[in-house]
Amino acid sequence: MNNFTYFNPTKLIFGKGQLDALPEEVKQYGTKVLMIYGGGSIKRNGIYDNVKAKLKEIDAEIFELSGVEPNPRISTVRKGVEICKTEGIDFLLAVGGGSTIDCTKAIAVGAKTDVDMWDIVTKKVTATEALPFGTVLTLSATGSEMNSGSVITNWETNEKHGWGAAPYTYPKFSILDPVHTFTVPKDQTIYGIVDMMSHVLEHYFHQTSNTPVQDRFCESVLITVMETAPKLLDDLENYELRETIMLCGTLALNNMLNMGYQGDWATHNLEHAVSAVHDIPHGGGLAILFPNWMKHVLDDQNVSRFTQLAVRVFGVKTEGKTDREVALEGIEKLREFWNSIGAPSKLADYGIDESSVELMAEKTVVARPEYGNFKKLNKADSVEIFRASL
Ligand code: NZQ
Ligand code: ZN
Repeated sequence: MNNFTYFNPTKLIFGKGQLDALPEEVKQYGTKVLMIYGGGSIKRNGIYDNVKAKLKEIDAEIFELSGVEPNPRISTVRKGVEICKTEGIDFLLAVGGGSTIDCTKAIAVGAKTDVDMWDIVTKKVTATEALPFGTVLTLSATGSEMNSGSVITNWETNEKHGWGAAPYTYPKFSILDPVHTFTVPKDQTIYGIVDMMSHVLEHYFHQTSNTPVQDRFCESVLITVMETAPKLLDDLENYELRETIMLCGTLALNNMLNMGYQGDWATHNLEHAVSAVHDIPHGGGLAILFPNWMKHVLDDQNVSRFTQLAVRVFGVKTEGKTDREVALEGIEKLREFWNSIGAPSKLADYGIDESSVELMAEKTVVARPEYGNFKKLNKADSVEIFRASL
């Protein structure tokens, strides 16, 4: 493995009724609180009222920014920054899924600078501070609740970029009550499951030697998600199943699984290009693209990563088969599993056809000409992977 420093300052507050911890946590940072949320799910399921009641216990002055889009937009970030500056906000509270949390991270940084946030998202300028913020997670998927990353879309330029400014963009705390995810509809639950599995897979495909415990951590999260997902999708309000998935989602992307090595992340780059042009759900895009990325990069030098995954996670038998056959069978089993839970498998499922392949491929190389750490890819590779995904 490579040398590494592990530092994660987010306080994770996990379990039923943990919203009770909110007043004490917020109190440390001030009284003017901007509550940030999405399109209204928290009003329908009662989380909005419960959060407000908790903030009132400390006499917080509450401001609100609602309407954060799935695939949050820079225009919404700018609105939030404006509120922070005019009202002198002390603390931001994200109540929602990854989109709301990512938007909050950008507002937190934007509130402390005169630079336009798009220049920070596109890495022209580096952030040096941020307002403190916490999260109440309502959807298990991205891991944004315990990492410093954020993904923001610019709908004017059709660009979607990941950025982060550790340590400033780590939440001070995140409250994870599995009950808060009971109302997540089946399709969003599926997308979340695909997203967390994809994060583990992005880690798993790396070129660093001697990562035995990290590999087994990754495999155990994948196996656990695959055991739990079908049961959960038949029983969406089952506490224990939601609890298991919620913890898996956080562990999948809080950098514990990838201590000492760097994962691939090409498939995320490909998916961000698709959703920048077509605004599709992130997990839906990943389900389509990941198996096709795997088939595209598989070669004689890297086949052992694929065979290890196929045998340990998908139970593929090796007798009488070449390594390549075992690897391809593992990829097929991943596709079959995602199909079995109802995830999409073709870009056509979202009405995307050949006519946008070139534009999407262009978007994969806006930030740099090559991407992916397991295997370097360029625009021609993007075109091939998108074509195989149509
Ligand atoms: O907007 P509301 O009305 O709240 O509805 C949301 C939204 O429509 C709904 N929802 C959330 N919690 C719910 C609920 N509906 C009912 N009950 C609840 N308890 O679900 C829909 C999707 O929400 P969203 O936040 O968009 O989903 P997700 O958590 O999957 O976040 C996706 C975004 O995160 C980015 C993605 O690219 C995408 O923009 N990512 C962020 C990462 C990070 N920061 O580390 C890593 C990921 O790889 C990913 O790229
Ligand atoms: Zn993701």
